[in-house]
Amino acid sequence: MSALTTRPSSPVPSGASPSRADAAPVLLRLDRVTRVHGTGAGEVRALDAISLDVGPGELVAVMGPSGSGKSTLLNLAGCLDTATDGTVVVGGVDVASLDARGRAALRRRHVGFVFQDFNLVPALTAVENVSLPRELDGVPVRSARAEATAALAAVGLDDLADRFPDDMSGGQRQRVAIARAIVGPRRLLLADEPTGALDSVTGEAVMRVLRERVDAGAAGLLVTHDARHAAWADRTVFLKDGRLVDSTGRRAEPADLLDRDSASGDESGATR
Ligand SMILES: Nc1ncnc2c1ncn2[C@@H]1O[C@H](COP(=O)(O)OP(=O)(O)OP(=O)(O)O)[C@@H](O)[C@H]1O
Ligand SMILES: [Mg+2]
Repeated sequence: MSALTTRPSSPVPSGASPSRADAAPVLLRLDRVTRVHGTGAGEVRALDAISLDVGPGELVAVMGPSGSGKSTLLNLAGCLDTATDGTVVVGGVDVASLDARGRAALRRRHVGFVFQDFNLVPALTAVENVSLPRELDGVPVRSARAEATAALAAVGLDDLADRFPDDMSGGQRQRVAIARAIVGPRRLLLADEPTGALDSVTGEAVMRVLRERVDAGAAGLLVTHDARHAAWADRTVFLKDGRLVDSTGRRAEPADLLDRDSASGDESGATR
């Protein structure tokens, strides 16, 4: 699991490229975003005036019942879909200002996406699936393959690099999808139930990899039904019928606990 942390290059570029995205303090901003699917009687308001910011170093868990709009939210954040109303800003760029090509380029460079149904290419091996987005983005094949091998190692799959998805278990396929999302310098990681097909030990290991990437400066949005995985996030937002109904506060830092201790005086130690 240490391959990512020992890689020579930083997973998130620090000022290497002078794009607006590098200067942006918030990697993802949703401002009163509404997404309506269908028309007329079949109209579904999948998201209803959602506002949410996710900054570098921040992992936000999204929870909510089936059909509450979680995947719709991730698709908008990942530039795979466009809002009916409101503004989506990714890496400082208003997604509505881009055409389909521009959205694809933004997505390839900045967004790592773990889809709910994996979306692996069956004709490509694991390592080819993982290196594909880097090769499409112009990274030389040899470097892209090296990055892909490191990402596969990070999810414990380096020994299956040459296997095709159809010859893997569901959990192994899911880990290939996660490796593809974290390969290269991705700034925004979007994961839709990334641990759904994994046993608890592997699920935990995958959460650790996501957490490491976020701690290195990426922003993460994680859809999960599992409170243990949400506990890896800095905060959790809850969706119901396309609306954000609740949001937990930030994860308590050790310094906060110390502040609380000193504020309460030392007469009881009850805060411990
Ligand atoms: N392309 C579409 N056309 C019409 N309705 C859609 C479309 N995509 C999603 N919906 C509807 O929008 C709502 C939100 O769907 P979404 O996939 O975002 O839910 P979800 O929270 O991800 O659910 P799950 O936990 O089951 O994955 C649902 O009512 C769904 O039926
Ligand atoms: Mg979904």
